[in-house]
Order: sequence, then C-alpha cells, then structure tokens
Amino acid sequence: MRIGTLDIYHPLCLAPMESVSDPPFRRLCRQFGADLLWTEFANCEAIVRNVSRESRKLQVSPDEHPIAIQIYGSAEDSMERAAANAEAMNPDWIDINCGCWVKKIANRGDGAGLLRDLKKFEKVVRSVMRGSSLPVTVKTRLGWDADSIVILDVARMLEQLGVAALTLHCRTRSQGYSGKADWSWIPRVKAAAPSLPLIANGDIRSPEDAKYCLDLGADGIMIGRAAIDRPWIFRQIRASLAGQPIPPEPDLRDRISLALEHLRAHTAYHGEKRGVFSFRRRWAAYLHAAPGIARLRAELMTLETVAQIEDRLARYLERAISLGYPIDCEETPAETIEEQEPCMKNCASACWK
Ligand SMILES: Cc1cc2nc3c(=O)[nH]c(=O)nc-3n(C[C@H](O)[C@H](O)[C@H](O)COP(=O)(O)O)c2cc1C
Repeated sequence: MRIGTLDIYHPLCLAPMESVSDPPFRRLCRQFGADLLWTEFANCEAIVRNVSRESRKLQVSPDEHPIAIQIYGSAEDSMERAAANAEAMNPDWIDINCGCWVKKIANRGDGAGLLRDLKKFEKVVRSVMRGSSLPVTVKTRLGWDADSIVILDVARMLEQLGVAALTLHCRTRSQGYSGKADWSWIPRVKAAAPSLPLIANGDIRSPEDAKYCLDLGADGIMIGRAAIDRPWIFRQIRASLAGQPIPPEPDLRDRISLALEHLRAHTAYHGEKRGVFSFRRRWAAYLHAAPGIARLRAELMTLETVAQIEDRLARYLERAISLGYPIDCEETPAETIEEQEPCMKNCASACWK
C-alpha cells in the first residue's frame, strides 16, 4: 500500500486515540510491530490559535516515522491553516478525522458530522489539500446511521480528489461502539474505489480478524482498543501473517515489567504527578487474571509516585512467587481469583468508549 513515497505491504496501523495514542504509547506499539502511527486528533481552531495542549499533540519525534498527524474540524479556512501548521511539524502525511461520533463534535458538523453533508466533506478535504503539500488521508465511518450509509459515495469522491488512503471504521455514527463492525463493507468500498488504498478498522482483535479483513480486500488494518489491552497484538498479527507461530500472551511477570516500562515513559512525557494519575486507567490492561490482582489494582489507584508503584509491584511479585502462584502461565485458572473486581468509577475507569 502506498501513501506518498511510503510503500508498505499490508501495514498494521495503530489507531489515533485521544488521551491514549500519545508518544510513549505509540513507541510501545511500534516496538511490538505497528508499522504506521497516528497522533491523537487535534482541533483545527485550537491549532490555529496555538492552544498549547492541542499544539503539543502535533509533535512527532524522528523515531516515530512513518506517522500521520490527525486534525479535525469543518471550517475550511481553519482546516487549511491547521494543515499548514501540521505540515511544519514534519509528519509523513496528514489525516482528517471525519468519523468522531462524540455528540459535541459530530452535532456541530465536525468529525462524523461531515457524513451528513458530503459537499462540505469534499470542501474540507480540499482545504486540507490546499494547506499542505503532504499526502492527505481520511478516517471515517459508514454513514450517519443505518438509513444513510454514504461510504461508497465518499470513497468515490476521495478517490477522485486524490486522497492517499481511506481508513474505515465499519460502523455508522449512530452506532457509536455498539453492535459489531460490519466488515462486509470492505469489498464493496474496494469495488467502488479500486485505486483508493483502504485501511480496515473496527473490532480487529486477533490475527484471524486481521487476516479476514485483508482477505476481504483491505490494504491495511488499524487497531485501537485491542492495542490498549494488548499492545503486543501487532507482534502476534505480524507473525501469523508471515505464517510463523503466534507468540504467546506475555505472562504476569512480563506484563508487570512492560507496565512499568510504559509507566516510566508515560511519566517522563506527562510529568510524574499527572502521569501517575492518568496511567490509572491503564492498569486493567496489564494486571488481570492473577490472584489478588483486583485488590492490587485498587491499591495502585492510591499511589502517587513511580517509586511507590515499583515497590508495590515488586512486593506483589515476590509474594506471588513465594506462594507458588502460577505467574508464568498466560492465564491463571478462574477459581484462584477469589475477590470481586472493585468499583472503579471516575478516573479509575477502564472503559474506553
Ligand atoms: C479512547 C479512544 C479515543 C479515540 N480517539 C480517536 C481520535 O482521536 N481520532 C480518531 O480518528 N478516532 C479515535 N478513536 C476511534 C479509534 O481510532 C477507532 O476508530 C475505534 O476505536 C474503532 O477501532 P477498534 O475497534 O480497533 O478500537 C478513539 C477511540 C478510543 C477508544
């Protein structure tokens, strides 16, 4: 699949995810084999006004290439200027978010709101192409709702405009995250716009899912939530596609050491106080299926420094080993998990929807 001068066969892509796909997480996923990276989306008006939180999202480091900066908005002038600002940060291409379903964004015509007005959609894409000489890609959904699926028209329009690739989250806007992504649209979109590279997205959680989408004609696949839970999924898919044995799920000891590596990078980037706090909703991905793990996670929610967390995890592992817990197997038998999951409302929520 080509995007500008990049040419990668069946790329595995890490999805743009606000508050998730920050530089430390992107690097972690790259380490596990993600070929293409996306930044979290940044609002065009905020970029133009140089709002620091949003401008920071545009920063990409030399070791992150190939990477796209994703922007969103529907005001053509601002999108054009935001694209120019984004280009100055030296990404490999610019991606336009035309799929965000969140009410306050979609209802004002940004993100998936563009699916209700294809003329506007086209103008927005043209404005980004005017603002930047880099390749431009689009990420969107099937349509606003089941009665207004417009993806075939969108794909034809993007192909004609010379957009470099389309990422399709195979759900409608009104579905949000409900139901199941409908991958049957992959061959239909490819038939409608054969020269437009298509990256399939939505509910890809295993090597089998990835292969299924590629067999349907997708040129690449993009993974979001499954990478939050299991960043090593890229390594597994890569091996499987190459016909090699699928590397096993990391055991608890490896997951703890990976979590700590991630935490250290996360706090180096966000600062210790903010980083330890925002990392709280990530523990569930690393720490599960082991005795006493829910209690351990609940305790981690109360700690405030990296040193405290390192110490607590080292003591947990030591005790688990001394008690002979089976930490070197992928999953601990359910009967050894005695306690209930604690209530994890507010910041501790592991719900990413
Ligand atoms: C926490 C979170 C934040 C997201 N932020 C963005 C975003 O900034 N830009 C975007 O295009 N999509 C965003 N998405 C949507 C994902 O990129 C992806 O399209 C969606 O999660 C479906 O893929 P999945 O089933 O592999 O998770 C976000 C999703 C999640 C879970």
